[in-house]
Parts: sequence; C-alpha cells; structure tokens
Amino acid sequence: MKRRPLFAANWKMHKAPAQAADYVVQFWAAAEALVTKADIVLCAPFIDLETLRVELAPSRVRFGAQDCYWEASGAFTGEISAAMLAALGARYCIVGHSERRRLFGETDETVARKVAALLAVELTPIVCVGESLEEKQQGLTAARVTSQVQAGLGALSDEQRARVAIAYEPIWAIGTGLSDDPVTANATIAMIRGASGGLADARILYGGSMNADNAGSFCAQPEIDGGLVGGASLDPRGFLTLIMNGLKAAA
Ligand code: PGA
Repeated sequence: MKRRPLFAANWKMHKAPAQAADYVVQFWAAAEALVTKADIVLCAPFIDLETLRVELAPSRVRFGAQDCYWEASGAFTGEISAAMLAALGARYCIVGHSERRRLFGETDETVARKVAALLAVELTPIVCVGESLEEKQQGLTAARVTSQVQAGLGALSDEQRARVAIAYEPIWAIGTGLSDDPVTANATIAMIRGASGGLADARILYGGSMNADNAGSFCAQPEIDGGLVGGASLDPRGFLTLIMNGLKAAA
C-alpha cells in the first residue's frame, strides 16, 4: 500500500499563542480539503499547544511538539513529558532536530529514549537525521544517517518502526535556501529505508529549505513521503501552497 503523505510545519521558536490562533484561522478550512490526501501537523512551541488544541478542535489538522522528555513525570525542572503531550492531545513530536543536537546536547541515546517514550503513549515521533556539509564533502552521508537511524530506532520492533516518521534533513540545507537536489535526496532516503529493516511502511520526509516552488520536485520522488518545513511553514497561505504543490506532484 502506498504511504500516506505527511507535511509537518516546524515553527521552531516562532509565534506566541495569539499568533498561533491567528494562523489557524487562516489555515484550517483550506487545509481541511487537503487532509483527505495527507496528514498535516503543526509542530509548535510548547506554550502554543493548548491554543492549537482549542483552535484545531473542529479540524483534522493535528498539532505536535518539537521536543519532549522521556520520563512521564517527576523532578525534571523545565521539561515536558511525552505523556503530558499525549494528555493534551498532541499527535506528533519532532525528535533529534539538528538544532537540538548542536545547541542543546541532544544525543543518539536521548533520541532513542524519547522515541520509545512517544511510541508508548501513541504519539508519532518525527526523528530527524542528516549530515553536515563536511560529512557530505567527505562522502560520509550514508554512514552518518544510517548510524543515526540505527541509534534512534535500533531497539524498536518492526511494528513500532512502521509508526515512526523520519525526516532526512541535510544540516547544510536547513534555513539556508540551499535545498538538496531532489534526486540525491531520494537516493539517500531510499538508502535509509533499505539499510534498516521494518521501514517499508514508515514515512520518510525531506527537510531543508523546502518551499512552495521546490516541494513538487521533492514530492514527485518515489521515496519522499512529504516534508518537514521550517521557514516556509510560518505563513499559513505559503504552507498551504507548498502542500498543494507537493500533493499535485505526488499524485
Ligand atoms: P527550513 O527548516 O525549512 O527553514 O530549512 C527545516 C527544519 O529545520 O526542520
């Protein structure tokens, strides 16, 4: 069976609750027509999630977080657990984004713990992997991303792996306007899917300067199941156009 496309907005550290509410007003009715063909999720700062829960209540657009902690509760000042996200009605959570790995000490080991915690409460982890520019130049892309996938998903059963989404995001392409070549990204994603068992049904997204103009050429590739979108997701109309263009090309 063909995998259902997934388009995830990664708002990063943008939008206070009032702006999140305003976004949804402009987004959800038009997005509703697209939800028949794809899963759509807004991954927002924690303080926006309650607003998204309320504003998206009549909609099938989902909301998610950008990080979580693996323990369910306890003395972990400043943290939000996967279980708390589930209790709020979040359906997705980004894990292991390169910004968190680089700036906030995320490791392959913490990624694996978060993935397990999210699956245990029926959330879909969106696990980010990707190589640096130096690694790409040294021909180390395949080694880097397969080791990240293996570390993050290695302990999971095949049934659990099918419930995970992976975002292949070359670090040099994130926020730079320099997207990967779609054919090259497709080959890397095919390699990720083939290198670890149980990923035939898992959605694997491309991320890194995806926008309304290039989404079609990525989504036309057979291994690319949608996008994890940063800058181009911040404007509701722009994100809708991106999704529409992606779906048109994937059809
Ligand atoms: P970008 O970010 O679309 O702004 O490149 C993608 C991401 O970091 O997930």
